[in-house]
Amino acid sequence: MSTFNVGLKKVVDDSYDIEIGYQLYDKLVSDLKAGLVGNIKKFAVITDSIVSDLYAAPIAQKLAAAGYFVELFAFPAGEKSKTRETKAILEDALLERGYRRDCCIIAVGGGVVTDLGGFLAGTFGRGVPFINYATTLLASADASVGGKTAVDTPLATNLIGLFNQPKKVYIDIAAWKTLPARQIYSGMAETIKHACLADIQLFYYLFENLEKIYSFDKTACEYIAEANCRIKYNVVMQDERESGLREILNLGHTVGRAIETVSDYQLLHGEAVAIGLVAQAKLSHKLGYMSQEEMNAVIALLYKASLPISIPDYIDKEALVKKLYTDKKVRNGQLRFVLQSGIGSVMQFGENVFATPIPEDLAREIIYQC
Ligand code: GLY
Repeated sequence: MSTFNVGLKKVVDDSYDIEIGYQLYDKLVSDLKAGLVGNIKKFAVITDSIVSDLYAAPIAQKLAAAGYFVELFAFPAGEKSKTRETKAILEDALLERGYRRDCCIIAVGGGVVTDLGGFLAGTFGRGVPFINYATTLLASADASVGGKTAVDTPLATNLIGLFNQPKKVYIDIAAWKTLPARQIYSGMAETIKHACLADIQLFYYLFENLEKIYSFDKTACEYIAEANCRIKYNVVMQDERESGLREILNLGHTVGRAIETVSDYQLLHGEAVAIGLVAQAKLSHKLGYMSQEEMNAVIALLYKASLPISIPDYIDKEALVKKLYTDKKVRNGQLRFVLQSGIGSVMQFGENVFATPIPEDLAREIIYQC
């Protein structure tokens, strides 16, 4: 008998830039020419049916004009498309069109597109590079940054995926103007989440400047885009794989993700997260971690941001309690919540522990108060 040691110690540098600006198509092309993805000449632009004509096609045209081989692959817009089935359809389409390991994926769109595109890139030909071009506030605030890629399953959101970092993220603020108001509000929920967990100044800035952001004031939009990136990458740089600290980015998501699925995606992700933020604020207050005034301030900001602050009547609350158990933070069958310790900070429950077990009865009590 013999034993062989396959020595595979790795030093990995997955660092990348996030560029915030307006209509960054030319910058994308100049970055590619400067070697962003080496000497790759073949690009698959993954997008959805809404973003396709608006942004993905112009980007593809710029790349083609610069001499690259590029094709567009669009799937029906909406969270319901973020599935293994859509991924398989796209993979087959790429293979059919001759794409192999010598390509790069460019995901152009919102969170559904960047989550799906990044996951596809991570498994296509055992992994090809990808770039995110984020066109929504939600994608710029959360989904496009940090390397969590995934698809939903019938049981719950984001259960199947990879940590896979992009080569670069472009955040195109100009694209926000073309979003329906409901999508902008939905993106604001992740921004409010960041303020609640890490930045009291951002929290009160949002209170004062929501109207400016919703009318696309340049300074206000740039301020929140930069704040979101700063808060998120500060966490991701410390704990890329969510062994502890990164769980704080889950604030509001225990109830949020569950209610999104139970609503059968009638609620947008940010709308579901808004209700989840209310639930965790009520729980944080009940457990003595946050004052009544702080809890009320969280709820008031969400309300001012035109986000839902209560569970819609059509939601079956018992089904919601059951759905909480699909959360990735569940350990040994116990629900775990990230909780605020005030505005701009979260509770720490031990060394590198940022979520705490919550008995089902207490979770149910809070849900019935929302
Ligand atoms: N959306 C939470 C995270 O990226 O960790």
